Amino acid sequence: MNSIITPTYAVHFNEKGYETLNKHLDKSNYSKIFILVDENTHNDCLPSFMGNIEGDYDFEIIEIEAGEINKNIGTCTQVWEVLSELDADRKSAMINLGGGVVTDLGGFVASCFKRGIDFINIPTTLLAMVDASVGGKTGVDLGPLKNQIGVINQPQMVVVVPEFLNTLNERQLQSGFAEMLKHGLIRDVKYWNTLKKVTSFDDISTLIYTSVSIKNAVVVQDPTEQHLRKILNYGHTLGHAVESYFLESQDHELLLHGEAIAVGMILEGYLSHKLTGLPKAELEDIKMTFLNRYKKVTFAKSDIDAILSLLKFDKKNSHGNINFVLLKGIGDPAIDVKVPSNLMLEAFEYYAE
Ligand code: GLY
Repeated sequence: MNSIITPTYAVHFNEKGYETLNKHLDKSNYSKIFILVDENTHNDCLPSFMGNIEGDYDFEIIEIEAGEINKNIGTCTQVWEVLSELDADRKSAMINLGGGVVTDLGGFVASCFKRGIDFINIPTTLLAMVDASVGGKTGVDLGPLKNQIGVINQPQMVVVVPEFLNTLNERQLQSGFAEMLKHGLIRDVKYWNTLKKVTSFDDISTLIYTSVSIKNAVVVQDPTEQHLRKILNYGHTLGHAVESYFLESQDHELLLHGEAIAVGMILEGYLSHKLTGLPKAELEDIKMTFLNRYKKVTFAKSDIDAILSLLKFDKKNSHGNINFVLLKGIGDPAIDVKVPSNLMLEAFEYYAE
């Protein structure tokens, strides 16, 4: 697989990825290299990763607790303290070996430590391979509110090794697959139709490549999300609010990110049908596709009210307006659409039908 190279970052795959990483470590003369892991990637991915590193480096391993609940500034402080105790300096580097929590948090920790040290992302989940690790968004949650604190800063490189997916269960794979389905919805109807037919994740490498290419093509045109990059947030305005609500709520089972944005993509599909001309047949196609893969979530009226009250924290808001990304058709997005609140309630009714 060819590497995806942009003026500010590169994504490499498989053996070529390790080869490029080895060359980079060799020439960079880092004073210390830290590898950030969680308990899962420490056990399941670190041995294989180390087996592919050629040079003789004195790596320091830093382990954080797995799970979105730990993606917060408290965990960052712990990592900063360890870096400091272990004499990290500005010529140190951090390798983030993990899913979206590790790559988002590790990227943020590295971007702020001594005003910025190099970092490299080695995503180990499907979600991180096709979304979180690529494009330079780093950050943490503020309480239950998703990604409120962070910076956009590109890693030195991303190395995608689909073999790590063998360490994941079906639910985690499906969670990442929701972001891939999103890539079809916002950019490429043919890709959407291909993805809908996927029943096994055994041969997913080519599709990962397509998803990374779609995301990359958007990010290079608008790295700081002034306009086009907003389309990558389709399903995320309501999806993030649903995710945050479930993260905080004691009464509900936790939803994975992909499961929450799957709900968001159906809800925002309904809004798209009402406001931006998404044909009814395409809306039904979106709903069926997601409900065939992801368990239907039951929302009480009080849940919906609480979820809608979280929308005011969405990062795309400006001047008091909530700005949605909607679809004019599958593959054809519209940005900065304002939505009346009664339609949002209708969207939840449509989801429940
Ligand atoms: N996850 C959306 C973005 O990177 O812009």
